[in-house]
Amino acid sequence: MTRHFLKDDDISPQEQAKILDHAIALKKDRFSDRSFEGPKTVAMIFDKTSTRTRVSFSVGISEMGGFPLVIDSQSSQMAKSESIADTAKVLTRQVSQIMWRTYEQSNLDEMAKHSTVPVISGLSDDYHPCQLLADLQTIKEHFGKTEGLTVAYVGDGANNVANSYLIAGAMAGMNVRIASPEGYQPSGEVVNRAKQLASGEILVNSDPAEAVSGADVVTTDTWVSMGAETEKAQRIGDLEPYRVDENLFSQASPEAVFLHCLPAYRGNEVTAGVIDGERSLVWQQAENRLHAQKAIMSFLAKNS
Ligand code: CP
Ligand code: NVA
Repeated sequence: MTRHFLKDDDISPQEQAKILDHAIALKKDRFSDRSFEGPKTVAMIFDKTSTRTRVSFSVGISEMGGFPLVIDSQSSQMAKSESIADTAKVLTRQVSQIMWRTYEQSNLDEMAKHSTVPVISGLSDDYHPCQLLADLQTIKEHFGKTEGLTVAYVGDGANNVANSYLIAGAMAGMNVRIASPEGYQPSGEVVNRAKQLASGEILVNSDPAEAVSGADVVTTDTWVSMGAETEKAQRIGDLEPYRVDENLFSQASPEAVFLHCLPAYRGNEVTAGVIDGERSLVWQQAENRLHAQKAIMSFLAKNS
């Protein structure tokens, strides 16, 4: 059976732990996994802009002996409404895996339905599972574990990164707290799924200070995700009290670290003092996209 990685819980918690360990090992020995020797080709389709996802997948596929094929969907026949099913049937006969950054999660489901090779989400409106593998790797490297640690996500709690924190963080044994105003909180469906998977606490509230209190990891994301640009002014107004600044960060554990998936908008969701401060791990986190994605691609290559 072909395995896919369209959302965080398409792998089991045990598989997640093994993938994180492989990512940490690959960071120490970058050219040791040659899953795409041949070279086999991996297609990467982008419906939205990207810096980190595009670079880290391209470099990772090359380091695994493969060929990274970047497809800008706007310059492909997908822009002229060739169906996802037909696109999948064409790609699947030629490439080894397909990574797709898109809008609706259902697009990924449709691609996977018609693909005989693994399909990986490079972000959808609902989830960003590759980001969470990199974030969990960063947390595991820094603290030596993920289990029992508390992460506080402050800001737009209804976006892809917040949803993935709830699901993947719960799977990794973390306590996950989300602080967001009304209208920006995660759906009941995502929160319930996180609670099913959790061994620790899942908390959603509208009080950043309560969420951050004693947390080991503080994180946030842009207030204006890709696709929500027309709501920019409204969102900045609504989310202003949810900025991660020095005062809020000081209420976390004294050893707390700051993470941000990037791109960051200093002065909106985070101050320069926090993201450029000593306890920010954002550059290590961005590098870990490379190692974590090599590990998930290797896992899918072996298990499909
Ligand atoms: N964090 C992340 O996915 O970055 P890009 O949008 O640059 O790929
Ligand atoms: N939530 C952000 C993540 C960017 C990597 C977005 O979807 O734009």
